[in-house]
Amino acid sequence: MLKLDKTWLNPKIKSKFLLENTLCKGAMKYFSVCMYNILLTGGAGFIGSNLLRALLNDERVSLVRVMDNFETGYRQNLEEVKNHQKFELVEASICDYNSCLKAMKGITHVSHQAALGSVPRSINNPIATNNTNIVGSLNIFNAAKEEGVNRIVYAASSSTYGDSKTLPKVEDKIGKPLSPYAVTKYVVELYADVFGKTYDMDFIGLRYFNVFGPHQSPKGAYAAVIPLFMDAVLNNEPPTINGDGSYSRDFTYVDNVVQANIRALFTDSNEALNEVYNVAFGQKTTLLELFDYICAEADSDLKPSHGPNRVGDIPHSLADISKARELLKYDPVISVQDGLKGSFEWYKENRKYFL
Ligand SMILES: NC(=O)c1ccc[n+]([C@@H]2O[C@H](COP(=O)([O-])OP(=O)(O)OC[C@H]3O[C@@H](n4cnc5c(N)ncnc54)[C@H](O)[C@@H]3O)[C@@H](O)[C@H]2O)c1
Repeated sequence: MLKLDKTWLNPKIKSKFLLENTLCKGAMKYFSVCMYNILLTGGAGFIGSNLLRALLNDERVSLVRVMDNFETGYRQNLEEVKNHQKFELVEASICDYNSCLKAMKGITHVSHQAALGSVPRSINNPIATNNTNIVGSLNIFNAAKEEGVNRIVYAASSSTYGDSKTLPKVEDKIGKPLSPYAVTKYVVELYADVFGKTYDMDFIGLRYFNVFGPHQSPKGAYAAVIPLFMDAVLNNEPPTINGDGSYSRDFTYVDNVVQANIRALFTDSNEALNEVYNVAFGQKTTLLELFDYICAEADSDLKPSHGPNRVGDIPHSLADISKARELLKYDPVISVQDGLKGSFEWYKENRKYFL
C-alpha cells in the first residue's frame, strides 16, 4: 500500500497541483490511485456497514474511518473488517462537536450515514431524532468545513416527499413532511445546500427509498418491513401487515445504494455536485407482493395477519431515478426479486446474528 504524506490528502492541494501542472499526468494518476481518506459516519449500521466493505475493497481508498456510537448499529457489523489495514474506528457521537473535529483530521471525503432512522421512532421521541439528525449533521458539515474537507455525500430520505401525491417522485417536487423524521431529513438537505453555496463545498444528497439487504436488523420496535418478514417466515410465525397490504414502495437492494454512494463520492462531474438524487430501483412492489416473494423463496405457505395503517405512512412511493442515472451514472443492477433472494439466503445463514 502506497502511504502518502498528509498534505497530499487534501483535495484542495490536489487541485492546486493539477492547476499548476507541477506533476505530469502519469504521476498524478499514480498518486490518485489510493489517496482518498473517508470518514464514514454510521458505519456500524445497515447501509454504512455494506458501504464500508465496498470502500475497503476500492483501490482509490487508503483509509475508512468509521464514526459510530452504536446507538442502532452493531459491533458484529464491523467484526470481519476490524483488522483490515485501511480500517479505523472512532467510537463517538456525531452530537459531540469536538469528536467530529478530531474524526475529520486527515480526511478527504465524508460519507455521512449516521442518523436515527424510523418514522415511528421520531413520532415517539422527536427530540432524540432532532438532536442526532439535525444537530449531528450540522456538526459533521461544520467540522468538514473547518478541516477543509470538501466532498460530503450524505444520506437523505424519500420521506422528504411528504404529502406530495406526484408519482413517480421527482427531486424538485416535494410536499410537506409527515413526521419529525421527515422534517430532520429535509433540514439536513437545506443545510447542505446553504453550506455548498456559502462555503464553496461539494455536497451530494442521496434520497434513499426503502433500502433492504444483509445486515439490516429485524430486532426492536423500529425494525423495517423486509427483515421483519424474513424473520417471521424463518420462525414460521405470521407477520402483521399494517393495512390491507396494498400500499406499495420502491424497495431498493442495498448494493444499488452502495453503488450510488461510491459514484457520488468519486464523481469528477461538476454538474453532479450540490444536488440531491433519488436512489431507488424504480419499481413499485406492494406489501402483499413482497410477502409472496419472500414466502416463495422460503417455500412457505404462511398467511399474514393485518393491523391498522401506521401514522405518517403514505399509500404509495415510487422514484424517478433518471437524474441519478444521468448525472451520477447510477445504474441499479439488482432487482427487488434478486435482492430478496440474496437477503433471504443471508438471513437463513445468519439466524443468530442479531441475538
Ligand atoms: N434504511 C432505509 O431504508 C433508509 C431510507 C432512507 C434514508 N435512510 C438513511 O440512511 C442512513 C443509514 O440508515 P440505516 O438504515 O443503515 O440505519 P442504521 O440505524 O442501521 O444505521 C445508522 C447508524 O448510525 C449510527 N448512529 C446513530 N446515532 C449516532 C450518533 N449520534 N453518532 C454516531 N453514530 C450514530 C447508528 O449506531 C448506526 O450504526 C440514515 O441516515 C437513514 O436516515 C435509510
